[in-house]
Amino acid sequence: MEVISSLIRVTLPNYLKNLPVPASIMGIARLSGSEWLQLLPFVGMISLLSYVTYQAFRSKPPPKDSCVNLKIQKESSKVVNMVDIEELGDKVSYCRCWRSKKFPICDGSHNKHNEETGDNVGPLVLKRKEPLSATK
Ligand code: FES
Repeated sequence: MEVISSLIRVTLPNYLKNLPVPASIMGIARLSGSEWLQLLPFVGMISLLSYVTYQAFRSKPPPKDSCVNLKIQKESSKVVNMVDIEELGDKVSYCRCWRSKKFPICDGSHNKHNEETGDNVGPLVLKRKEPLSATK
């Protein structure tokens, strides 16, 4: 701890005090080559800290795995499924997790997805109040 304290209280102030920092913008042009070399590590460190800080706080694009649809019809710009309402039958479950191998029909893959990710997605279940056989 004493080494760090000495570094911060003695070495760093002495180093900064001896840097040939010009008093004005025009003074930059008057710096000699050796003064530039003396400034180089300091300017490099400030640039590195600025870059690291910028990278930490800049808005990043969402990671690829934040997409809901990871593999279904990725060649299409939009996945749209049309179903004739007359062909629905008495009950059908549509996938909302985008993991079904029978997409757009739910095959239960949401259970594995939920276990692996802690998610809670499930299918959209369409069900007739009365079975079709009862209405005929
Ligand atoms: S498989 Fe996707 S909701 Fe069931």
